[in-house]
Amino acid sequence: MAPLKGLILSGGKGTRLRPITHTSAKQLIPVANRPVLFYGVQAMADAGIEEVGIIIAPETGPEIQAVAGDGSQFGVRITYITQDEPAGLAHAVLTAEPFLGDAPFVMYLGDNLLQGGIQELVAAFRANAPDALILLTPVDDPEHYGVAELQDGRVVSLAEKPPAPRTNLALVGVYMFTAGIHDAARAIEPSSRGELEITDAIQHLVDSGRRVEPHVVRGWWKDTGRLADMLEANRLILDVIEKRVDGELTDSQVDGRVVVEPGATLLRATVRGPAIIGAGTHLEDCYVGPYSAIGENCVVERAEIEHSILLAGAEVRGLDGRMESSLLGRNVKIGRSGRQPRAYRFMVGDSSEIEIL
Ligand code: G1P
Repeated sequence: MAPLKGLILSGGKGTRLRPITHTSAKQLIPVANRPVLFYGVQAMADAGIEEVGIIIAPETGPEIQAVAGDGSQFGVRITYITQDEPAGLAHAVLTAEPFLGDAPFVMYLGDNLLQGGIQELVAAFRANAPDALILLTPVDDPEHYGVAELQDGRVVSLAEKPPAPRTNLALVGVYMFTAGIHDAARAIEPSSRGELEITDAIQHLVDSGRRVEPHVVRGWWKDTGRLADMLEANRLILDVIEKRVDGELTDSQVDGRVVVEPGATLLRATVRGPAIIGAGTHLEDCYVGPYSAIGENCVVERAEIEHSILLAGAEVRGLDGRMESSLLGRNVKIGRSGRQPRAYRFMVGDSSEIEIL
């Protein structure tokens, strides 16, 4: 088989993660302090893929390009491909056709996380040489996903977000294709949401007698489209980090699996893992509890934080109650003021959500 290429779709708008995604691409929101997109690129590199195309949207593309660069940090070569309109996953494949040529490829949705990477799947794809290999996992809410129906180990039908799903097997956002997918993508019509659905293109392969092999994933898989998913992905990744304390601790305590990056300073702080504290961050008279990922150059003072993600430059000071299950964007400041009159004062972006005690 010709060398596999990689295609990562990183053009989505991330409407369910507003306001963070008003100013930044959802694929760059950090999970355990690494942009979620990086896990996909890394998975490809680990599977021996050298050429990776990343589909970007005109609005968020430049930021993604600046962060992921030419791919040398992962050991791959990245080609950026602009998709002018969000016209669906199959449209993205067609947009990437000049890059993909007739190579077989792995397609990975840039906001997805798959435990254990893709090495095993690539091996199965090479060994069995089907026309396509799709990943499936049982879910409680299949109506929100592409859903597959199997018979004797073969895929017989697929439906995109069906109101009455026939099975609970959701399509995971990782697919393997041979070049036949391009013609299939050309053959289909836009769905009711106005998109060329990859699910329909795969159904087209099935209908034209091509062999579509299912693979049910054993580990966890996360589509990080919503806050709860993002926090869960953060939990799952933090659960497997190894302790490393490179920052400076003064009268502080670090329990369990905690990473403290170089340049972070802790003064009378307690951090209970799994947690990660980014470079240049300052913790003072505070408690950071399990499943927290504090980005670079943050400040936490006289506060308690648990099960939360803070992006770079966020500051939290003087909270009476514990903050939990929260996502703070870059440079967000939460604090207490002694000003009169005593009042809550907010300056928050569109679609922000605040819950107070
Ligand atoms: C897309 C696919 C869907 C798949 C899902 C996985 O949905 O269309 O079939 O199950 O990704 O994350 P979207 O995220 O575009 O709604």
